Amino acid sequence: MKNVAVILAAGSGSRTGLDIPKQFLMLAGKYVLEHSVDTFCAHPMIDEVTIVVSEAYLERVQNLAGERNWRKVKHIVAGGKERYHSTLAAVEAYKDEPDCNMLIHDAARPLVTTDIITKTIEAMDSYMAVDVAIPVADTIVETPDGGKTMDTVLNRSKLYAEQTPQAFRRSVLEEVYDIALKDPHFTSTDDCGTVIKYMPQVPVGIVPGSTSNIKLTFASDIPMIEWLLSNRKR
Ligand code: CTP
Ligand code: MG
Repeated sequence: MKNVAVILAAGSGSRTGLDIPKQFLMLAGKYVLEHSVDTFCAHPMIDEVTIVVSEAYLERVQNLAGERNWRKVKHIVAGGKERYHSTLAAVEAYKDEPDCNMLIHDAARPLVTTDIITKTIEAMDSYMAVDVAIPVADTIVETPDGGKTMDTVLNRSKLYAEQTPQAFRRSVLEEVYDIALKDPHFTSTDDCGTVIKYMPQVPVGIVPGSTSNIKLTFASDIPMIEWLLSNRKR
């Protein structure tokens, strides 16, 4: 079965407070988006890469793909308002092909490694859905009043923090969003959450992630990510 990497780069990066989306910042000599595209393109088990960008950046990324000679990049498609719209744009791009594994990755996580990608693909031999995740280091509490006080301490031994890639059979993504989008109360921050809620019969396997596989979320994340990118072993 074909392994397709989907790089989600259609967000606006509002939490950084910067005036360009974070995936187009230049860090350690490359655009943030380029780091993960390069890592997936160089992976021997990845057959194709699809990049999802906002309409406004389509041409720019098409030009970049030409300049960088990204041979595995098959589609560059426009995403949508919410992250799941962007996932669905990639699912749609493969609608006429046989089923495949789709590794959905945040462009905002430029430090994804070859090893994480290998383990994710290997886990797809046993599962139809897998997520890269790490045990949480901090104790997590619930707050009933938007962060003024706390009232519940969660059992840390049961808590993991999700990262990406998240991998699925393409057919599972198609089916789960068919179901989910009929729910008028549907909301989502990630595709695994959608599978867990709407197709609970599909177990979601966990692949060990890394504390370095950080997502650029706030401007204050930039120095650390740039340092890690500059100093990592390839
Ligand atoms: N993403 C996307 N399409 C969207 C929203 C998000 O492709 N409609 C991508 C982002 O580009 C990012 C990844 O999904 O690579 C993770 O999302 P997040 O960190 O939330 O990025 P943004 O939505 O861009 O940032 P913010 O939430 O701060 O606005
Ligand atoms: Mg977001």
